[in-house]
Amino acid sequence: MSAENESWVVLKFGGSSVANADNWPTIASLCAKRQEDGHRVIVVCSALGGVSDALQDLLDNPLSDDGAARLATIAEQHRLIAKAVGIDADSILEASFAELEQLVAGIQLIGEVSVKVRARVMALGELMSTRLIAAYLANSGTDAGWFDARDALRSEDVEDRRQRRAFLAATCDAQPDSTLSARLRNLAAVVVTQGFIARNSEGETVLLGRGGSDTSASYFASMLTAERLEIWTDVPGMFSADPRIEPSARLLIALHYDEAQELASAGSRVLHPRCLSPLRRAQIPLYVGSTAHPEITGTMVSAHIDEVEPRVKGICIRQGLVLISMDTVGMWQQVGFLARVFAVFDRHHISVDLVSTSETNVTVSIDSAAGEVSDEQLNELADDLRALCRVRVIHNCTALSLVGRKIRTILSRLAPVLEVFEEEKVHLMSQAANDLNLTFVIDEQQSTRLVRKLHASIIRKSGQNSVFGPRWEELFTSSEKTATPRCSWWTQKREQLIELSRDKNAVYVYDLASVVSATDELKAISNIGRLLYAMKANDNAEILKTLVAEGVDFECVSPGEVRHLLDVIPDLDTSRILFTPNFAPRDEYAWALQKGLQVTVDNLYALEAWPDVFRDQSIFVRLDPGQGRGHHEHVRTAGIHSKFGVPLFEIDELIDRTEAINATVIGIHAHTGSGVHDPENWRQVATTLATVADRLPSVRCIDLGGGIGIPEKPGDKAFDLGELDRSLAEVRAAFPQYELWLEPGRYFVARAGVLLTRVTQMKGKGDMRYIGVGAGMNTLIRPALYGAYHEIVNLSRLDEQATESVTVVGPICETGDRLGSDRLMPPSEEGDVVLIANTGAYGYVMKSDYNRRGDVPEVCLGVNGERQ
Ligand code: LLP
Repeated sequence: MSAENESWVVLKFGGSSVANADNWPTIASLCAKRQEDGHRVIVVCSALGGVSDALQDLLDNPLSDDGAARLATIAEQHRLIAKAVGIDADSILEASFAELEQLVAGIQLIGEVSVKVRARVMALGELMSTRLIAAYLANSGTDAGWFDARDALRSEDVEDRRQRRAFLAATCDAQPDSTLSARLRNLAAVVVTQGFIARNSEGETVLLGRGGSDTSASYFASMLTAERLEIWTDVPGMFSADPRIEPSARLLIALHYDEAQELASAGSRVLHPRCLSPLRRAQIPLYVGSTAHPEITGTMVSAHIDEVEPRVKGICIRQGLVLISMDTVGMWQQVGFLARVFAVFDRHHISVDLVSTSETNVTVSIDSAAGEVSDEQLNELADDLRALCRVRVIHNCTALSLVGRKIRTILSRLAPVLEVFEEEKVHLMSQAANDLNLTFVIDEQQSTRLVRKLHASIIRKSGQNSVFGPRWEELFTSSEKTATPRCSWWTQKREQLIELSRDKNAVYVYDLASVVSATDELKAISNIGRLLYAMKANDNAEILKTLVAEGVDFECVSPGEVRHLLDVIPDLDTSRILFTPNFAPRDEYAWALQKGLQVTVDNLYALEAWPDVFRDQSIFVRLDPGQGRGHHEHVRTAGIHSKFGVPLFEIDELIDRTEAINATVIGIHAHTGSGVHDPENWRQVATTLATVADRLPSVRCIDLGGGIGIPEKPGDKAFDLGELDRSLAEVRAAFPQYELWLEPGRYFVARAGVLLTRVTQMKGKGDMRYIGVGAGMNTLIRPALYGAYHEIVNLSRLDEQATESVTVVGPICETGDRLGSDRLMPPSEEGDVVLIANTGAYGYVMKSDYNRRGDVPEVCLGVNGERQ
């Protein structure tokens, strides 16, 4: 091949790829294939995975006693992998080991590390790994040679005060360089060189910053005007979400440079964001593939994609964000205010990421995930900013970004999807000026749940096409998916459950010990004066008895519930019942008052139309605090679109009405919705209600309703009852005159219940696989009604690998009769026992006889495990 039309391919292998000896033959065979295809090959490698961290550790603790031991560990890692691939590290790396020892001895002597020495020490990681790889390739018959990347990559000069950056996070110009091509050609057919390192104009070693190996590879591609850069890593490409969070994340087959750049910057850790611009400039395509699975077609990034219509291609999160919220009352209009604010950031060398502004507030985010900004720096920054405005530093935030080209044109289609944010506090929202991303900054603990929800509604259902490839779980089911370890009560009582489901089409089973432990958790909320159980969630007699014995009171919504409760517990003092009906007929109120129940009124109509019923009575009033929350719009019970509660603008009228009939408002109540995960909800409700209560002098108690959410998917975080308690403590400190009540339903019972059913039939239709079970939407309506998620497992095969992605359906004649979609399960057989988890709340009570499929039995396991 003549020098003019020689075609280079750059292959880059990351730290985890080179740290595994099994991958080295793949590296050799990829080199061979590219050569066969007529390319010249340059291989760019990172340090062996773990080595950079170990070196960093040595540098960060220069005076620690175990320096020698740490050095020995690093050397040993190289010896082990060399041995595994049949070469001898000591002879190949003799000089590098000696240099490392010498540098470390010098550091220990001086007791500190200059940036120049730091760069030299860190560079040794790449210098050593590439020496070994070049030797291995040569040993296995490849015409391979080693090249010092520093002889090609020259860093750009920067001003003196940025010295640290110049040595530890340098950039290079990387213009096409025909002499480089000639130099490499003379060396060998396959050239092995280092990522991450370069030289400055003084000839000193500099680093390209963490993750800089991708950037080195793209510099080489650009200088050699390569045909293609291939980045071989531990995942087979870029995905629509982090597969560790969302196993149904889709492989992205084709991306535009802009999108890949945006995904990389928004938190997808597959590529380093900096590596894309040299490629884009030179229009060099980038392929991302997995070293361990080179057979899987990965992601191609280029300027050409078959874009049919704009769409969201990825949902990324970046954790560890810190927000600085600046209230600017009175200063906003002043010329130069923003300039002065940003000058302060500049002075502290803190770079701002996202910005959002309003008339009175400027909020910015600082990316602290890289650990670059210390708390001390932040405090100093905040102190200086305080001279200009009121400042609040908000830690532990996450930026959740929807990424895709022309995102603005998709906004209207996204609107319904954005309802997932309704119950979250969005600290900041920003739509990138480049029209590639829409970012929400939210509290860290909610982020993974929201990624899953958004992914389910935006991306998961797209069919296979030129953008979305297979799901992660499809790619790795057979080889890597094992049954997830679980520690719920039902795994411990598995044998007993299988036994009692014998001969049953479906059965609800409740574990009373779990009810008691949930009750104990709720009782530990010290700022709650009275705990009631919203019995609509589950009115099983054994559960009611268990709760009475625990000292819990009851919230009922109909005479039927009250009668059932009194049938089960005849001697229950009726003063332990709060009666909270909605749009009920007159007779029910009269009946309840006559029975001595505490009655809640939630509409002025009742007081107006039936004054005699309420005359001289002591009542509770349910208010609508204005904002509903909850897992689905059907269960958000406040706000203009809900039928519940007296709106705040009717308080004057409420006062007039009650005075007119001499009724006394002794308590106020609100229930904003069900399945709420943010403890802040109850603080807001309590504050609103307490403010209203101040106008109603007889009010003694404030009932904050129920609504506490439970973790649904494996890995979801539990609701933080401690935080709820702390925020209620603040409310109590501000309004000590009121007793606070709470009336959860779900939290008491949801996790205590499972629905057991049996596999009836299987079916494959196109790429869909169905498993039929005996229970359907008649038995458990939550998935059909709210799209609710319930974990589903094959209890008979709990220890087997989950290798099939299936949709679990019931026997009812509606397409909506689906208990779960895209669930990973082991291959199932007719008669297997399937368990549907977290069905203790709103399961049995919402069943129906639709299709006349009859009742479903309930069984309780006693506190000591016996059947009741
Ligand atoms: N208080 C009142 C006034 C309520 O209306 C409710 C529930 C609760 C307390 C108890 O809420 P919990 O703590 O259980 O979230 N069927 C739906 C839930 C409807 C909730 C209705 N009201 C579901 O399956 O998710």
